[in-house]
Amino acid sequence: MKILVLPGDGIGPEVVEPAKNVLEACAQRFGFQVAFTEAIVGGAAIDAFRTALPDGALHLAQASDAVLLGAVGGPKWDNPRAAVRPEQALLGLRKGLGLFANLRPVRVFAELLDTAPLKADIVRDVDLVVVRELTGGLYFGKPSEQRQGPEGREGVDTLLYTEVEVARLMRIAFELARTRRKKVTSVDKANMLSSSRLWREVAHEVQRDYPDVAYEDVLVDAMAMHLLRRPRDFDVIATENMFGDILTDEASILAGSMGLLPSASLGDSRNSLGHPRGLYEPIHGSAPDIAGHNTANPLATILSVALLLRYSLGQAAAAAAIEAAVAQVLVDGYRTPDIAQPGTRQVGCREMGAAVVQCLKP
Ligand code: IPM
Ligand code: MG
Repeated sequence: MKILVLPGDGIGPEVVEPAKNVLEACAQRFGFQVAFTEAIVGGAAIDAFRTALPDGALHLAQASDAVLLGAVGGPKWDNPRAAVRPEQALLGLRKGLGLFANLRPVRVFAELLDTAPLKADIVRDVDLVVVRELTGGLYFGKPSEQRQGPEGREGVDTLLYTEVEVARLMRIAFELARTRRKKVTSVDKANMLSSSRLWREVAHEVQRDYPDVAYEDVLVDAMAMHLLRRPRDFDVIATENMFGDILTDEASILAGSMGLLPSASLGDSRNSLGHPRGLYEPIHGSAPDIAGHNTANPLATILSVALLLRYSLGQAAAAAAIEAAVAQVLVDGYRTPDIAQPGTRQVGCREMGAAVVQCLKP
């Protein structure tokens, strides 16, 4: 099985290293082979090739069974007027691989209830997945530019969705709900936006094929509130690109840290095993402020490897083993600084990764 590794910038390389070790430990224990290839993307690629996503990297991604990505970006490449930006690597990979569905599971580990900024009573047993549309909406709509208007400079972005884009995303959400608690919450802003009114219409059409799944529409502003007040009520949350971007940063607070949330980006493309060719990455960014200090939390990337095994490699048992190992190291008291509390064992990124690998050994 060919895995393309894209460490990226900032803490990307630090969190990817232990995640690779975890994948290798699983390969040994569960008896499958993995071959890693690596490529440079993001700011590092801008420095080396003057483009965030060199063609070679995209081709390698298209030829691999799955892609594991760390994070891209950093202050060095932050000039808002620059024509090349590290984030273009992410958008190029998502679009280039047709990864229209971004699954962001949010689970609250019992051991971290006291770490979470929210009351334990609110976040206990939260288990939801945000299914974020990833290749449409404001991120890709044209025009998207700054220009001269009659009253001076103006900036414009375009929020456009086709019915095909909405329907395929909703199908993924409903199918996923069938494997879980059978509830879909579709989030939109239908009281204001035409694109949202289409979203809602198409969502209802798709819903007819899933009478066994409970369904509700929620406006995005209300959702921002419900997520913090009654997060246990949600199972699968389906929403457009930018709403999903914002709501998942918010949702990371339920788990206690951005360093805990994995993601899987999937589309129609199938790999050599007949499974979806996915891109797997933590939802956090490159955290340049802590890069190089061995203090980053690798668990989000390690949990992304679990998703990679489940969705792209068909190795459900190995995926479950990783999730159990992560829960176990937390029970054992290992904590990176972002989730540290008095009385726990504060460790670095490498040590946390090694503890997970240790748990996976037979
Ligand atoms: C994410 C990130 C990206 C996004 C950025 C880095 C372009 O915030 O994956 O959530 O907005 O999609
Ligand atoms: Mg984001």
